[in-house]
This record gives sequence, structure tokens and C-alpha cells, in this order.
Amino acid sequence: MKEIRADDRTQVLSGPQVPASPIAAAIALKGISKTYGSVTALRPTDLSVEKGEFLTLLGPSGSGKTTLLNLIAGATGPTTGVILQDERDITRKPPRERGIGMVFQNYALMPHMTVFENVAYPLRVRRQPATTIRAKVTEALERVGLRGFEDRKPRQLSGGQQQRVGIARCIVYSPAIIMMDEPLGALDKNLREQMQGEIKRLHKDLGTTFIYVTHDQEEAMNMSDRICLMNMGGIAQLGTPDELYFQPCNRFVAEFIGESNLFPGRMTSGGRVQIAENHSVAVPGAAGIEGSELLIMLRPEKVRITGTEGPVADDSNVLSGEVESCSFTGSITRVTVKTENGLSITAKMMSERIRSGLAPGARVRLCWSSSDLVVLDK
Ligand SMILES: Nc1ncnc2c1ncn2[C@@H]1O[C@H](COP(=O)(O)OP(=O)(O)O)[C@@H](O)[C@H]1O
Ligand SMILES: [Mg+2]
Repeated sequence: MKEIRADDRTQVLSGPQVPASPIAAAIALKGISKTYGSVTALRPTDLSVEKGEFLTLLGPSGSGKTTLLNLIAGATGPTTGVILQDERDITRKPPRERGIGMVFQNYALMPHMTVFENVAYPLRVRRQPATTIRAKVTEALERVGLRGFEDRKPRQLSGGQQQRVGIARCIVYSPAIIMMDEPLGALDKNLREQMQGEIKRLHKDLGTTFIYVTHDQEEAMNMSDRICLMNMGGIAQLGTPDELYFQPCNRFVAEFIGESNLFPGRMTSGGRVQIAENHSVAVPGAAGIEGSELLIMLRPEKVRITGTEGPVADDSNVLSGEVESCSFTGSITRVTVKTENGLSITAKMMSERIRSGLAPGARVRLCWSSSDLVVLDK
């Protein structure tokens, strides 16, 4: 079980139904894998999802996210491994008995049924009485802001409204775990951001465990207690958004989450890391015998650009160079500098209307503090 740090605790425990510590796993996967003929969709994987947490499976297309969800839901059986729900083995339990709700990217609504009947469906399957159905459907539609839409058919709704119906149909029978597979993938950017806020609020109000899938790293960072970053059918790194951003374990994570400057380096005799000819830097946590190779990361927003004259802070690394390109993207300006010793380094800064001296060809100095350098596994 993951140790909960003090600064995580408020996030993780904010749901009303979350028990006091210790927190039992809502779902635990042990050695779960899935192969289709010669295709390995998921390599043997261990994963523990805590009760009440918002866990996101993030990763490029084909990395195994949907496969993992389908295994948890019981839509497909694993090739190896066991799945525990509340510490009970459910590996062979039929999907309907698992109490796991699912929201799909393509909504998967029944087109000939009204909004009310779509949302009522899981309750009818469970043979609930009509009065209960009416009350629960009304409450679910209220939660997703769709009261008054009961009699419409899906085709009379926008994409965002259809997905709200999908969410209402999922929460209506109070599943113990709610899973969403790229639920906002078909919506435009503004609506997606609005719905992200609403899904987060729903998570907080319900206190239910959420397992959410997206390939959009900003969405994952914005919504999750923890992110499980997947690559090629396995877990690349599991951690809080903060951990993945500031302490990525390898090149894949550093490049997938945010932007990064990566410097292949070599340990020198003095315990420093040589990242270019005639340039070595002190890197906290860098260790190894002389000559050993490592990879150093520096986030672009940690790089400062100054003119060629004047003092810089004591602990700074300083490199001179020439501006290669400068791009304005609204709130952020990205500047790439080619240093005299041949490195190409990107800096990101808040945009200003007039920022003199950053045109291509300008001579500048780059500085950053040693504490912003991170050692990665290669
Ligand atoms: N039913 C299937 N038959 C064969 N290969 C599959 C099947 N489902 C998934 N795969 C393969 O498994 C890998 C992971 O797929 P998937 O879990 O859908 O990825 P993601 O959801 O991350 O895009 C892909 O290479 C995919 O082609
Ligand atoms: Mg998928």
C-alpha cells in the first residue's frame, strides 16, 4: 500500500466516504497480463488503487490502458494474474457482479431510448421498483445538470450532453468503482476543460474510487490524485502529478509529461557531470564511477535568460549562446538557444508585450540553479 504523505492527505481523503487510515485497496492487480495471440497488450502488472482515489491511466495510443480497464471490469479475462476487490479474488467474477461502472468515449447510449430510459437501464436490469428508479434517475440527472432533458433522445443532444447522460447512467446505481475510458476525447477543448472540472467535483461529492483513462497529459495532471503512466503494455511510472513532473524516472516519462531539456552526461573525477565539451555541472543526487554515463533533465521554465553582462546568482550554471528561435504561444514564450559548446536548450517564460533582445541571432546567457537538474535512469 502506498504511504500517504502529509501533502497528499487532504487530496486523497477529501471524499466523504473515505475511511480513516489505513486505506484498503479498492482494486489490487497482481501479475495481471493479457496477450492476444502474439500481441502482448499488457505485460505482467501489479497495481493497487486506493479507496476514494482518483487514479488516471495515461499513455500513448496502444499502451494498454483500455486493456487494463477491461480486465478490471471483467469484460475480458487475464492471461495471467489475479484481481482483488476489497481483498477478495474477483478474477473470474462476471462483470455485473463487480459493482464497477463504466463511461465510454463514444457514450454508448441506446439511440431509440429517451434520456430517462437510458439512465434507468442499469436499475431496470437490477429489477429495482419504479418509485426507486424515478428517484434515482432524477437525482443522477440533477448531478450532471440534465434535469428537464428526460424525454429527449440522444440524437437531440450535443456531444457534451450525451456524455453527461453516459455519466448519469454510470452513477445511478452507485457502483463502488467508476471507470471512464477517454470520456472527453470527442469534445472540443473548452468543453473538455469544463467537463474536467465537473467530473472532479463529482468525484469529490461521491467519494467513490475513480479510474480514469486519457492520453492527454494536461487532463491527467489536472484531475488526478495519482497518475499511472503506461508505455508499451506496462507501467512506466506511478505517482502523483507532482512526482511525475519533477522526478520522472526515465526519458520516456520526462518527454511524455511536459517539456524537457535532456543532456546525456558523463561523471567526471570531481563528482560533477560533464554535459558538453568544457562544461561540467554539479548535479544533486548524481553518483557513479568516473566515466559512467547518465541522463540529466532540466525543465525549460527553470532556465533563465539574461543579457551578456552583469552578475548571476551564486549557485547558477551559466552558458553563453545565441537565440535560435523564439515562439510566442500566448501566456508562454519559448526560446531556444544554441550554446557556444553546442547544446540546444529551450527556456520557457511568461510572455511580456515587449521583451527586447530575444530575436533570433541575439547573444544571451542562460542560467539555472544546480538544484533544478534531475538525474534520470536512461
Ligand atoms: N482484442 C484484441 N485483439 C488483438 N489485439 C488487441 C486487442 N485489444 C487490444 N489489442 C492490442 O493491445 C495493445 C493495447 O491496446 P489498448 O489497451 O486498446 O491500448 P490503449 O487503450 O492504451 O490505446 C494494442 O497494441 C492493441 O492493438
Ligand atoms: Mg484505449
